Order: sequence, then C-alpha cells, then structure tokens
Amino acid sequence: LPKRTSIKSLAELPGLTSMPPIYTFPTNANDQPFSDAKESIPTIDFSHLTSNNPDERSKVLQELGESCQDWGFFMVINHGVPESMMKAIIEACRGFFELTEEEKQEFEGKHVLDPIRCGTSFNVSVDKVLFWRDFLKVFQHPEFHSPNKPAAFSEIALEFSKRVRQVARIIVRGISESLGLEENYIDEALNLENGLQVLVANFYPPCPQPELALGLPPHSDHGLLTLLIQNEIRGLQVQHKGKWMNVNPIPNSFLANVGDHIEILSNGKYKSVLHRAVVNNKDTRISIAMPHGPALNAVVAPASKLQDHENNPPAYKAMKYKDYLELQQSSKLDGKSCLERIQ
Ligand code: SIN
Ligand code: FE2
Repeated sequence: LPKRTSIKSLAELPGLTSMPPIYTFPTNANDQPFSDAKESIPTIDFSHLTSNNPDERSKVLQELGESCQDWGFFMVINHGVPESMMKAIIEACRGFFELTEEEKQEFEGKHVLDPIRCGTSFNVSVDKVLFWRDFLKVFQHPEFHSPNKPAAFSEIALEFSKRVRQVARIIVRGISESLGLEENYIDEALNLENGLQVLVANFYPPCPQPELALGLPPHSDHGLLTLLIQNEIRGLQVQHKGKWMNVNPIPNSFLANVGDHIEILSNGKYKSVLHRAVVNNKDTRISIAMPHGPALNAVVAPASKLQDHENNPPAYKAMKYKDYLELQQSSKLDGKSCLERIQ
C-alpha cells in the first residue's frame, strides 16, 4: 500500500469496494432523514439588515430572531459576496486537498489553537470510529494565516474572509438587537474587533459504503455564528424537532447557524443546533465553514439583561472562549456535551 494519511488517498485506492473497519459504524450510520416538504430552513434577506427603511429592517430582525429560535439555522441571500469569489475559494481549497501527502504533512497540526491545521476525521485523538472527511482549518482573524500552497490560496482566502466577516458581523448585530440587547452589545461584550474567524474546509471524497459511514458526527459549532458554502453536492443534515433534515442550499447563499456562544450569551433563548455530514459514493463534496467567535480571551456569560434571578437565572457558567475550545478538544465530548458541562 502506498503511504497515505488522507481520506482522499484512501478513496483513490484502485478497486476499493469496502471501508477499513475503523470507518464503519456497526449499523446504518445515517438513520432515515426526515424531510417535511412544508418545512424548510428559513431565508434571511441580508440586504434588509442594512436597509434604511425602518419597516424592512424591523421585519427582518423579527425573522432573524424567529429563525434563531425555531431552527438555529437560516440561509442568507443578497449578501453581496460575489459568486466568483465563492467559486474561487472552493477551488483553492480543492487545490489544497489535491497537494501530495508529503506537501500536506507540513500543515498537520495537533492543537485546537494551531493557526493552520489539516487532518482527517473529527477529533482523531478521541474518535473510536473515524469519519470520512479530510479538513483544513486556518485562522483568518484577528491574525491572518494561510498555507503557502497552492500559490493562489492566500490571496483568495484573505479577500473572501474579509468579506464574509463583514457579513457575519452585521448578522451578529442583528441577532443582538433581536434579543432585545443594544445592537453593539455582543460586539463590545465579546470584543469582536478581535474575534476569532476560522476557515474550515471539508473534503468528502466518494465513499464505497456511504450508509455505514459519516463525514462528520452530530455536533454543534462552538462560536457565535458560522457561515457555510459548499460545492453543488449535498450532504449536510440539520436536526430539527428531533429529526434529521437534508439541507438544500440556495445557490450563492450562505447557510448560517448559531453556535454555542450565542446559546450562552442569550441564556439559552437561541440554541445551537446539532448538524452532521453524510457522504455519498459518486461525487466529492467540498464545504467551507467559517465560524466566527468571540475574542479568544473574552469571557462569555449570559447577558445580564437576559437573566433575572427569580424567573430566568443564568443557565451557563462564565468561561473564557479559549478555555472552552481547549475543553472541547481535549475531552471526549460529543454532540453538545461540552456546553452541558458548563450548565
Ligand atoms: C460543519 O459542520 O462544519 C460542516 C458541515 C458540512 O460539511 O456541511
Ligand atoms: Fe459544524
């Protein structure tokens, strides 16, 4: 066997018809997803968030609040990030995953705070069954990092991340207002000027036994708000009212979801929602998730305006964002159990 470390090179082994046991769940890994035609992830028109028309703005804030409360997920349209830029970053990430194993090895990190880190699975140090996924995680803010290969990666990532961060910050201000807080409350309380922004690229090659594997386990995102794009291949599922639903993204939209730190800050009013990735046996799926979090040194606690000691006591302990990331990484925590630890 050739030396390999990535799922990509495993998937490319000639004549591969079954997976090594370490990728195989004992029973069907993806129980039947439920999709009710009447219900689908809500859409938020981003242009209304920056509108000068007060009616348009208050309506979209209302919709934003309802989306966060009912779904934890929404699609963002009319965000102004050019389609060409979305295509370019997906191709740049594909280029990274297509580097040789030796070239990629240079970027194999171990620690959750390593600014550039590639690898496979979800959390290899604790995963018992491995996930059918290669990843690259690169910190984009407050300090910009980039692998130096492929050559165009850095320039495309810098441009894309800047634009996406502007979109995310405006949505976070809307979320703040929708909670009945000052528009800038979250910005200031969590020092978002220095907020952590990460580019997480996921690569899911065709899988010989897709029903027995998963690309990503059910998890919630740790930050405040994640914005996600993908190539034309589906695979993301979101938990809604206890059932798994396939996500059909609108072309050129961002899929947004609230993370654990919005749940903490909102004292549980807006919950982070479990989602996972399934795989298929035909096409490579690429997704790029951009989580936006507090500053690493910010201490996050439920907003005092959203708690009162009689009816609504603080539901989460205050914790530094950085310590939360390390806790989640180092312990065997699945689903939302990291968040449950601080309740
Ligand atoms: C993620 O949850 O970070 C990515 C899921 C996906 O590949 O769509
Ligand atoms: Fe996620």
